[in-house]
Amino acid sequence: MHIDKQHCRITEVKIEDVSEIFQIETASYVYPWSMQSIVDQINNTNGYNRAISIDTTFFPSTTSGLVGYIFGYLILSDLYITNICIHPNFLKKKLASFLLENLLHDTRILNIKSIFLEVRKSNFPAKALYDKFNFVEDGERKNFYSDGETAMLLHLDV
Ligand SMILES: CC(C)(COP(=O)(O)OP(=O)(O)OC[C@H]1O[C@@H](n2cnc3c(N)ncnc32)[C@H](O)[C@@H]1OP(=O)(O)O)[C@@H](O)C(=O)NCCC(=O)NCCS
Repeated sequence: MHIDKQHCRITEVKIEDVSEIFQIETASYVYPWSMQSIVDQINNTNGYNRAISIDTTFFPSTTSGLVGYIFGYLILSDLYITNICIHPNFLKKKLASFLLENLLHDTRILNIKSIFLEVRKSNFPAKALYDKFNFVEDGERKNFYSDGETAMLLHLDV
């Protein structure tokens, strides 16, 4: 199934989205964020939190059609992405790309000059996504994750 951009909506994450986000989070990660971490992220006044939803005809089992999200926080003109995640049933349909394209558009409005993130060294799909958007590798941090995995540090100047 192909999903066009015109069938997607990107909106600010609301507290009512928490349970759908938590479901996607637990279905996607071995070490998911807790419900409380998601609530704290939404309540962070420096947060950059956007959800992507699709027409519910593509996703009849939900009322909102929420299929993914990007979380981050702003410090002056730097944005730190802390999470980007798409529902497992809707991967490889360019939905994460739509979230990043929308973020690049928002950088002008929010005066963001650089975007930073960490990614697990083994996370090939995420690394391919960031590569597509021309993120640059700044190095690695060993033992970064609780299971001992190495993180790659990436950034993009916009
Ligand atoms: C990483 C993730 C967000 C990508 O979301 P997505 O909507 O499937 O990505 P897109 O469809 O926009 O893909 C964009 C590009 O990423 C690359 N890519 C994405 N998934 C890929 C995969 N499984 N294998 C290879 N390349 C992949 C491709 O280059 C793709 O470009 P193309 O469509 O022009 O071929 C998604 O796999 C996910 O939610 N994973 C679980 C959570 C996670 O690990 N998040 C990252 C934390 S740092």
